[in-house]
Amino acid sequence: MLIPGAIGLVLILLSVALPILVIPAVAFLLAAGYFAYAHYLFAPRGKNVQGSIWSALVDRIDWGGKGNVLDIGCGSGALSIRLAKRYPEAMVTGVDLWGKQWEYSKATCELNASIEGVKERTAFRQASASKLPFPDESFDLVVSNLTFHEVKDAPDKRLLLREGLRVLRKGGSFAFQDLFLLKRTYGEMDALVASIRSWGVTRTEFVDTHNAPFIPKALKLPFMVGTLGLIIGVK
Ligand SMILES: C[S@@+](CC[C@H](N)C(=O)[O-])C[C@H]1O[C@@H](n2cnc3c(N)ncnc32)[C@H](O)[C@@H]1O
Repeated sequence: MLIPGAIGLVLILLSVALPILVIPAVAFLLAAGYFAYAHYLFAPRGKNVQGSIWSALVDRIDWGGKGNVLDIGCGSGALSIRLAKRYPEAMVTGVDLWGKQWEYSKATCELNASIEGVKERTAFRQASASKLPFPDESFDLVVSNLTFHEVKDAPDKRLLLREGLRVLRKGGSFAFQDLFLLKRTYGEMDALVASIRSWGVTRTEFVDTHNAPFIPKALKLPFMVGTLGLIIGVK
């Protein structure tokens, strides 16, 4: 939002000398306006679409609530904290790479968990979703939200689901939400679900969350959440 806005303003100034620059200037300013509006739609103080996306995942989890939970790509810790509050008998671990392009960090997660009163039942550590630092079958519930498409060190994003399932114990539950309808990233949904089944999963189901009523039309672009989907199941 800031970058296209700044470029747009610079181009407007330059267009005084070179009027043709008005065209790209307007395009950049429109893009900045769109991203500002999208920010408002996602934000808790705006339309809180982000909160509804977390709820879509959490509400679909089918799990008894006792044991170890893993949140892959935990960001600010918001989903991990939600899970810790929802399941008072669970221990929740959040992992994230916390790269430079995100303002999140391990310290932010720990602070947020402390503010929300779940510090004792949460742990956060730096790791890549492509190589989780846990033995096979370490967790009873594994979740991930809007992370896999961001993982740069995994050319085949489908393998990130397999890595998540590797650390899930037999009989444990999983809920992965991402831009699963982005065909160039995940291929056809039926093929993806078939691959997941072939990795030793007992039950799996695709839930088309991109059509949920809480997603406004303005966010239905493929690179926003217009290709959002949820894959849930039991190993
Ligand atoms: C759109 S944010 C989602 C954060 C969080 N899951 C949520 O729902 O609020 C994407 C997250 O993916 C994380 N990420 C990017 N590459 C990663 C990697 N290789 N391993 C783990 N996390 C990664 C980013 O740091 C960022 O926190």
